[in-house]
Amino acid sequence: MSALSLETVGMTMRFGSFTALDDVSIRVKAGSFHALLGENGAGKSTLVKCIMGFYHPTDGQLMVEDREVTVNSPRDAASLGLGMVYQHFTLVPSMTGAENLVISRNDVAGVINWKQERAALADFMRTMPFPIPLDRQVRELSAGEKQKLEIIRQLYLGRRLLILDEPTSVLTPAEADDMLGIVRDMTARGELSVIMISHKFHEVMKFADSVSVLRRGRLVGSGSTTELTPRDMAAMMIGDITLPTLDSRIAVKPEAPALLTLENVRARDGSGLKTIDVDGLFVKAGEIVGIAGISGNGQKELAEVLAGQRRLEKGNVRVKGATYTATRSESRTGKLAFIPEEPLQNACVAKMTVAENLGLRRFDINEKGRKRFWLSKSRIKQYAGDLVSAFKVKTASLETPIGALSGGNVQRAVLARELSGDVDVLIVSNPCFGLDFSAVAEIRARIMKARNSGTAVLLFSEDLDELMALSDRIFVMSEGRLVYETQARDADLSVIGAHMAGHAA
Ligand SMILES: Nc1ncnc2c1ncn2[C@@H]1O[C@H](COP(=O)(O)OP(=O)(O)OP(=O)(O)O)[C@@H](O)[C@H]1O
Ligand SMILES: [Mg+2]
Repeated sequence: MSALSLETVGMTMRFGSFTALDDVSIRVKAGSFHALLGENGAGKSTLVKCIMGFYHPTDGQLMVEDREVTVNSPRDAASLGLGMVYQHFTLVPSMTGAENLVISRNDVAGVINWKQERAALADFMRTMPFPIPLDRQVRELSAGEKQKLEIIRQLYLGRRLLILDEPTSVLTPAEADDMLGIVRDMTARGELSVIMISHKFHEVMKFADSVSVLRRGRLVGSGSTTELTPRDMAAMMIGDITLPTLDSRIAVKPEAPALLTLENVRARDGSGLKTIDVDGLFVKAGEIVGIAGISGNGQKELAEVLAGQRRLEKGNVRVKGATYTATRSESRTGKLAFIPEEPLQNACVAKMTVAENLGLRRFDINEKGRKRFWLSKSRIKQYAGDLVSAFKVKTASLETPIGALSGGNVQRAVLARELSGDVDVLIVSNPCFGLDFSAVAEIRARIMKARNSGTAVLLFSEDLDELMALSDRIFVMSEGRLVYETQARDADLSVIGAHMAGHAA
């Protein structure tokens, strides 16, 4: 089997009166590695959902191998050989790789002949360019291995055109390079075509051969990566590419008070099997403390403890010296703000409107900070309208349910809510995850501004570049503990990496 060509012709998608895709025609040659670019809310996910049959486009055609096809459901797309790999993992963690592959087939028998299946799998794996242990439970695999297994599954199911939606966001830089290199080699051999949604220009330049750029639902440019520079692409994406730059860093004052202090903090991790154990950690006013670590080493749980979403089993958290147990009134008096990861699940009510979500912290207090008993709809709307324009949240209206916003725009909305007003302690996890390059620059500038005005910032991030750009001090978290501390200024990336991987000398 060989790679498929694909073409959309005049693809248009309206949601009510809002046009998310407007007459988009893109062409992906058989065996090409095509990147789909565009700022947050440009319509990238909408386009691939139309291709995969999750949405029924309002207008337009889909061509596969130069023939018009009808895709009414993801199942139709699959039978044509189109597959999709998502940002998040879809494998069953408690099953082995082999089990995951076999059960995802359509034609699998009620009673599986494992001997036969194993032999067939072994044959199949010999044709794959990379080995993955199929006899281990998926939960034991690293993020890179899981992502490769997701791709292997698509190939096992016979897909010959893969759509990858921001495939490297959960991978380390080395894993990302490895995975994309393998995929590119398969396209070069004509075994596979790829459409990759990405916000990372360096990835696009290194691995893709052609690009299409969307802007506000329209195709605004396309071309080959040998002829386009990242600057050209950025200009197509947003027109004006003057980006906010980071304020220069004011030195942390030696006498600055620690605003957030953790002492002997202990909590259980997600599985309840391991413990989070933080002996001591403090963040001073006007300081950014970065927490590095490979996803799954307790960062999420520690952030949850601070947000009051996970029980503290032992130890103390203090905010400006006062014991803090993460109640809503304590976070208000202590002026704490939180930006959790996966903001749609953890910081929003998806079915409520953008205006209501932006008002969540404020709706029950009045201008003087006192409790109010009547909701003021017009004030909620006005407040939300101001935040939407200040943070450039793209939404059809203030009445749109926040769950309908693009991933990056949900993130912007949460940042707008949490970063506005007076914040003394800011706890933030992967704030730029899934954001386009201009939003990344803007958000980082806002965090730095908050720091320079005296906010204590605890920054959890899986992006080392981000930690290096923003932090004053960096800790590495591994297996629930802080195992290494360094000043960001003289930090050595390879030493940090070794501690993250758990094999530092
Ligand atoms: N089901 C829906 N109902 C209403 N509007 C929607 C729906 N799905 C998407 N939209 C709107 O369509 C626009 C495009 O969204 P889409 O998710 O395609 O953006 P994107 O390019 O993938 O952005 P991101 O980089 O942030 O993921 C957004 O303004 C979004 O609010
Ligand atoms: Mg998207």
